Amino acid sequence: MRFDILTIFPGALDGLFSVGVIGQARAAGAIEIECHDLRDYTDDPHRVVDDRPYGGGAGMVMKVEPFVRAIEAIRGRVGGHVRTVLLSPQGRLFRQADAARWAALDGLILLCGRYEGVDERVLAFVDEEVSIGDYVLTGGEVAAAAIVEATARMTPGVVGRFDSVESDSFYDAPRLGAPQYTRPPEFRGLTVPEVLLSGDHAKIEGWREREAWKKTAKNRPDLLGMRPEAGERDDG
Ligand code: ADE
Repeated sequence: MRFDILTIFPGALDGLFSVGVIGQARAAGAIEIECHDLRDYTDDPHRVVDDRPYGGGAGMVMKVEPFVRAIEAIRGRVGGHVRTVLLSPQGRLFRQADAARWAALDGLILLCGRYEGVDERVLAFVDEEVSIGDYVLTGGEVAAAAIVEATARMTPGVVGRFDSVESDSFYDAPRLGAPQYTRPPEFRGLTVPEVLLSGDHAKIEGWREREAWKKTAKNRPDLLGMRPEAGERDDG
């Protein structure tokens, strides 16, 4: 599985992609990640990637040509089943199911926008337009990093014990993961639930299942089809 990221800041994610599970997976050859400088796909001496919006208005819009040249160049090099995704706050919400679906691909090309947005004609050259949440970032790079992480850890050979992926929030049901504890057994009067110290695996599984649903009802009632007001709100 390989990830090709198109950005005007190709060095921005180097640190993140060099450490932890992702860094190890790259070193082991389970995944490849390449960040491409969008300016390498311009054809003017100033390597311009943006321009003023038609119709007027504040800010600049990212031009269509560099993105399309880059997509075509990468698609020419990377064979197999590849999907191209534009990251933007106007996209549909990215979910765990997308990560699972994309993890089965040979390649994912991620386009990061900046400025006020991307020329809408870029959409004619991509498969999907995706947002990571209902907030506006200064660019798509952080969104691309989130998608690489979520997708890579669903790729076989990336997370050592796949049962740790299976116990994730959202893995097989629209609900959050169960609470976890580690040593010490008591910290400032806060204790670990007895059941986790019991060694009774059936009881522990039952407790985790119940706690996972409780946490979901509290923090994400929308996942259970409840109105957010139905859960405990903790605004502020
Ligand atoms: N670019 C700016 N905001 C974004 C978001 N919420 N998701 C994806 N890309 C973005």
